Amino acid sequence: MSLRPLIRATLACPALGALSTLAVALPLLLHGQPATAAGPGADPRGAFLAANCANCHGTQGRAEGAMPPLAGRPAAQTVLAMRQFRDGQRPATLMHQIARGYRDDEVAAIAAYFEAQK
Ligand code: HEC
Repeated sequence: MSLRPLIRATLACPALGALSTLAVALPLLLHGQPATAAGPGADPRGAFLAANCANCHGTQGRAEGAMPPLAGRPAAQTVLAMRQFRDGQRPATLMHQIARGYRDDEVAAIAAYFEAQK
């Protein structure tokens, strides 16, 4: 396969250009960063995966208003809630769908990240 059409399309569309930059940068960020906000030794995926929660639960889990904050919540509590949402054991309007999008190890990384946010 020739890369030429792809490069041309990338140059023609600034959004695609930004996306391809991200495609290059993301693996570097995911694998190249030794420490995160959750401290050395923490699963570096936590911060990135937890960014998916920020729209509703606030930046770094610091929710304002009616949304439950996740920052500082014990990891075991977040893991349990996510499992219950996923398995339909906990009433939800949205979280039952969202919880299905993450594997157990990803939820553990997210939960550890939020616990470390004070
Ligand atoms: C689109 C908005 C939205 C996003 C994105 C979102 N949540 Fe939620 N979350 C909710 C709502 C709404 C509730 C209340 C339960 C419900 O109605 O689903 C909730 C509840 C929760 C609760 C239970 C809080 C409590 O005290 O009962 C946890 C834990 C949680 N979310 C974790 C997460 C995690 C982790 C992510 C990211 C992977 C996430 N949420 C992403 C909307 C969202």
